[in-house]
Amino acid sequence: MNPYQIESLEQYFQVYNESVQNPEQFWGQLARDNFQWHKTWDRVLDWDFHKPEVKWFDGAQLNITENCIDRHLKNRAHKTAILFEPNNPKEPAQHITYKQLSEKVNRMANVLKEQNVQKGDRVCIYMPMIPELAVAVLACARIGAVHSVVFGGFSATALATRINDCDCKIVLTADGGFRGSKTISLKAIVDEALHDCPGVRKVLVCKRTQEQVVMQAGRDAWLEPLLEAANSDCPATIMEAEDPLFILYTSGSTGQPKGMVHSTAGYMVYTAYTFKNIFQYKEEDVYWCTADIGWITGHSYIVYGPLANGATTVMFEGVPSYPDFGRFWEIVEKHKVNQFYTAPTAIRALAKEKLEYVTKYDLSSLKVLGTVGEPINEEAWHWYDTHVGKHKSPIVDTWWQTETGGIMISPIPYCTPTTPTFATLPFIGIQPALRDAEGQEVFGKNVQGRLCIKFPWPSIARTIWGNHERYRETYFSTFPGNYFTGDGALRDSVGYYRITGRVDDVIIVSGHNLGTAPIEDAINEHPKVAESAIVGFPHDIKGNALYGFIILKEQASAEEQKALKAEINQQIALQIGPIAKLDKMQFVIGLPKTRSGKIMRRILRKITVGATDELGDTSTLLNPEVVDSIIEGAV
Ligand code: PRX
Repeated sequence: MNPYQIESLEQYFQVYNESVQNPEQFWGQLARDNFQWHKTWDRVLDWDFHKPEVKWFDGAQLNITENCIDRHLKNRAHKTAILFEPNNPKEPAQHITYKQLSEKVNRMANVLKEQNVQKGDRVCIYMPMIPELAVAVLACARIGAVHSVVFGGFSATALATRINDCDCKIVLTADGGFRGSKTISLKAIVDEALHDCPGVRKVLVCKRTQEQVVMQAGRDAWLEPLLEAANSDCPATIMEAEDPLFILYTSGSTGQPKGMVHSTAGYMVYTAYTFKNIFQYKEEDVYWCTADIGWITGHSYIVYGPLANGATTVMFEGVPSYPDFGRFWEIVEKHKVNQFYTAPTAIRALAKEKLEYVTKYDLSSLKVLGTVGEPINEEAWHWYDTHVGKHKSPIVDTWWQTETGGIMISPIPYCTPTTPTFATLPFIGIQPALRDAEGQEVFGKNVQGRLCIKFPWPSIARTIWGNHERYRETYFSTFPGNYFTGDGALRDSVGYYRITGRVDDVIIVSGHNLGTAPIEDAINEHPKVAESAIVGFPHDIKGNALYGFIILKEQASAEEQKALKAEINQQIALQIGPIAKLDKMQFVIGLPKTRSGKIMRRILRKITVGATDELGDTSTLLNPEVVDSIIEGAV
């Protein structure tokens, strides 16, 4: 029996039991048998969730790109590694083989070295979904630089915050990016961001849209000539297992975004192992994850997990609705995609359109369908199962987080029987626990609680860049001794988990994590705003949309209010990005607060859905009188 390839439910239980009864033996063997090391570890695992500190494979030496690229050159040199599908369907797809990928990554790595990027330096990557983005990520890993990819939809202010937080000296970007019928002027956004980033000394710009850009002498350079001139051989820098591989920012419920730091060996082992099993990837398969590499899903399941397995991974530049709503299915047919992984928000958006967009394509290649990023509602699950999977492709509802690095709870297709809306069973090595508000573990079946993880897994983020105390407080202080996910979950009569949603002030909009505080800060910066509170409300397509309750400094006429709403959304788009814009805004005279001054979001959430009979006792509020007027003005 090969534990790297799980093929039955019985085997899953057997391997799972081994992995929790003897984790060091289990992960040690798995890592030794399936990856390439320059030196193996002194200890498989060292951990203390109180400190907190986690080390996997400490003492081992490796380079992740040797595992993702070099080792495949013997047998897979001419196999497609990255299959690039451009935004415009008329532009030909690119098949980049492992050999070509190797050359590209080596060249890019040498370009970075020429720019004096050294092991441990942080490199900001702000690029569209083009092959150079994946190449840039891997080139950093090749030389031990820490990549910090910032999603191309973030604004200049958000980009500047991320560049400064981890002190990037260099930014890799493109002139612009294509997304559906729009182009995004990435270089111009970088230029704006860099007004506030005195530490950045170099910007390397890749050509994509051919739009006019301003190149600042001494600072900015085009990538292509540098790549052409660079040597196509760059020896991999030998890394320690626990050396940081990348930083990826995620929203917190308060303050600055959190730069989650992932380390090398554990991340590699876990993303590769989950990819292999959760997508049941076989050698000839074509796998497609529709995420952007700017998010963790793209890091783990477009780049590292698939490439570590020698897979063919599709990279799609565009959006599901361009040139029409059949685009995803056209690509599935064209490239005979076998595994397809997307977000519930995309499924809901496509399910609203004519069925013909799906039925006109041949989707018979599909074997596994995945979803990630937010709870999938029953209707969307059935639509996906019926019209895309034709009831023959199991749906893997994969629950995980930026912080977890890899998938934590998910069915294994063709092994675990699926139930709509349930992420089902913990993956190998994952030990979930549900806890009540007092912190007691809730045992047994048909129970609910806050979802925690009791034992470390190899790809857990090791810290928050520059703020280990925030890492401890956010994840390890609510339930001491456990990692707290911030999610609520239930466990049903067969032990399946269903994720019910966030229990903190993070709101998931179209699968994007948004913290309330940064959005409120953006709104409050408007000179006419005194105070604001954001809550999520259910939305057909986005899952949740944002509702802002805003107190103005002075009364405003209906006309002025209309203008203010537009200005406030503009302000949010500038500070964070268009994804954080509010769907609804209501100007209020006050916000319901506890006597200690905390905004009672629970009351606001009830008002947004009209559940005014469920407000509970409001008389203990500091200002109960505001509630009625908010209800009256609700939009
Ligand atoms: O609330 C959970 C939700 O997304 C959060 C993590 O968001 P992020 O760090 O951006 O990573 C998203 C991609 C891994 C979780 O705390 N979430 C993610 N997957 C699911 C989910 N909620 C329900 N079901 C899922 N399958």
